[in-house]
Amino acid sequence: MAKDGSEHFSGGIGINTRLAHSGNNPHDYFGFVNPPVVHASTVLFRDAASMAARSQKYTYGTRGTPTTDALAHAIDALEGSAGTILVPSGLAAVTVPLLAFVSAGDHLLIVDTVYHPTRNFADTMLKRLGVEVEYYAPDVGAGIAALIKPNTKVVFTESPASNTFEVQDIPAIVKVAHAAGAIVMMDNTWATPLYFRPLDHGVDISIHAATKYPAGHSDVLLGTVSANDSCWKHLYESFCTLGCCAGPDDVYQVLRGLRTMGVRLEHHQRSTLAIASWLEGQKGVARVLHPALPSHPDHDLWKRDFSGSSGIFSIVLAGGGQKQQHAFLDALRIFGLGYSWGGYESLAVPVWLGDRVVAKAPYEGPLIRLQIGLEDVDDLKADILRGLTAAAAA
Ligand SMILES: Cc1ncc(COP(=O)(O)O)c(C=O)c1O
Repeated sequence: MAKDGSEHFSGGIGINTRLAHSGNNPHDYFGFVNPPVVHASTVLFRDAASMAARSQKYTYGTRGTPTTDALAHAIDALEGSAGTILVPSGLAAVTVPLLAFVSAGDHLLIVDTVYHPTRNFADTMLKRLGVEVEYYAPDVGAGIAALIKPNTKVVFTESPASNTFEVQDIPAIVKVAHAAGAIVMMDNTWATPLYFRPLDHGVDISIHAATKYPAGHSDVLLGTVSANDSCWKHLYESFCTLGCCAGPDDVYQVLRGLRTMGVRLEHHQRSTLAIASWLEGQKGVARVLHPALPSHPDHDLWKRDFSGSSGIFSIVLAGGGQKQQHAFLDALRIFGLGYSWGGYESLAVPVWLGDRVVAKAPYEGPLIRLQIGLEDVDDLKADILRGLTAAAAA
């Protein structure tokens, strides 16, 4: 890092240093270490000529501000991307690039284990706009070649899978997709760029629900979409066309969250692994679905490509149905029952797999997804035991 506080990280720098110093240069704003929160629609031009030529850095609030630039540059430093757009939610981080890159008559391949609202968007709006949507199994790997058609434009991946945590062979999929002229998008929310860097593995567009670990406190919705050189210009132009920009306070909060994300993730990782491996030996648990456990069918793939694991995974109860699932959830006192994840507090949700068309693996019993927060592991284990006892008695 240069003495003036500006960042010139060209490699060899630790991830927590990068998280602490990427994005803004404090000396661009009187030395204050954090960037200003710029609330703006109008930006004034000095004269008519510069207005006509749009020859200044900022031209209108929807197209970027010093606040959005600070976060976008920090994300670029993590993702190794040519550029990043910031959108109002993680779901918008899925829908905006899809709208940007598929058109009527195009074929879109989506992993069957995708985050449900992504499927809903594809099955409703994209189909209405004339896009042909097809789902593939998460273990497809190079076998995706058999599904590629002349009009396949995008292969959408999410790894590990929502709720069931299958790991995809991203490099194998990228190789086949690129040979066929299709681009690859990846929802990388689970790993964050700290534990998997999609663009390093050939992915063209990396998607992140920054609502989760970057925000980290269950109080902000935001999405980031980062592109490689060849996709960046089109992504940015489409973003401006849609006017789908994020609010400055939320952007600032996510940059603030990013500064501590490395240490929070380490804690999430440690506690989650301790709880997940302990759960493998608990009565009433048939299976633990966490790719960093050696028992997971995709563990070797995870180990090959990922450098860490985060804080959500699922358990399969040993038999029973919704009654046992609800008894487990209702007995919890520390885990809250609520959607989302990546915050400081533990959460549990019942898993519903009724939307899947290909990846319908039979499970021994109902599934419950756990998000492990920053609380003490012994307290969380005691809470889970309350759930297991209640499920057994139901
Ligand atoms: C994998 C994944 N992608 C995207 C999203 C959407 O994020 P948001 O809640 O910010 O819309 C979620 C939310 O749970 C998610 O789990």
